Amino acid sequence: MGFPTIRPRRLRRSPELRALVRETTLSPGDFVYPMFFNAAIDAPRPVGTMPGIDQLPLSAAREQAKRIKERGVGSVILFGLPKTKDDRGSSGLDPDGPVPRAIAEMKSAVPELIVMADVCVDEYTDHGHCGILKKKGETWEVDNDATVSVLAEMGVLFAKAGADVVAPSDMMDGRVGAMRAALDQAGFEGTSLLSYAVKYASSFYGPFREAADCAPKFGDRAGYQMDPANAREALREAALDEEEGADMLMVKPALSYLDVIRDVREHSKLPLGAYNVSGEYAMLHAAADRGMIDRNRAILEVLTSIRRAGADFILTYHALAAAELLGG
Ligand code: PBG
Repeated sequence: MGFPTIRPRRLRRSPELRALVRETTLSPGDFVYPMFFNAAIDAPRPVGTMPGIDQLPLSAAREQAKRIKERGVGSVILFGLPKTKDDRGSSGLDPDGPVPRAIAEMKSAVPELIVMADVCVDEYTDHGHCGILKKKGETWEVDNDATVSVLAEMGVLFAKAGADVVAPSDMMDGRVGAMRAALDQAGFEGTSLLSYAVKYASSFYGPFREAADCAPKFGDRAGYQMDPANAREALREAALDEEEGADMLMVKPALSYLDVIRDVREHSKLPLGAYNVSGEYAMLHAAADRGMIDRNRAILEVLTSIRRAGADFILTYHALAAAELLGG
């Protein structure tokens, strides 16, 4: 006498049954929408490599905040394009710079919108690196500790402007502890710190470097961002940032690193974000534009897979489109 056939398909017989046993949920509240504010423009300027994404003038901040909130997306992360750049990224410490101004405008338009600010000098340095450079014989290196003190100052500046969350994306050692101490000392104990704890030296940042005008003018970022081959090191980076006082962790990019998202999820109790980066966004649209994949299904599948891997929230350029698909 044989066993009866075991039939998992019984639970796939109707949309209602499938919904009942669905393991992963996706909602507009899971998304953080990245935005680029350019201090030198008066009208939106499309980013050629990222369909639907614009560099924005500061005059658009208020109406954008309202539009995002109306879609049900509760958070944004801001990047800035300043009017001037130098080798130390000084414009990143200007209280009238694009990010502090955009934070203030968006928070006053929609106080409940969670406004995060990316903290890194690459948007403000003329060489495009995520650190202050120093000479090393014929060549150069990133001065870790000099960079960390600029980041700490920048974090306080953004907190002062009203940011709910500051998010260092540079990968210098010790920056989370230094930023936490500086925030506390300045009276911003309530400002959260989201660490880009695990950030790889990835080819998938290409379109972002056009959007934020921050491609390195020479060399690459392999001396500070992680080697894509390493997973154990991700746990080390995550543990260090947790010890230093990060409130939330992030893995970046997302799609080629779903295993890393899962690993970090299993080793840390902190809320975990994942950054569905510019190249991942551009690839999906390029394939959809050529009729190779179904755009809307692909967007939801990608975002669901990042949540399934273990991310609590997702930084994604698809945020508004996905919210609309989800009925927002
Ligand atoms: C650095 C930063 C980068 C991204 C976010 N913050 C670029 C880099 O490290 O080269 C990339 C985000 C994306 O590709 O969408 N400030």
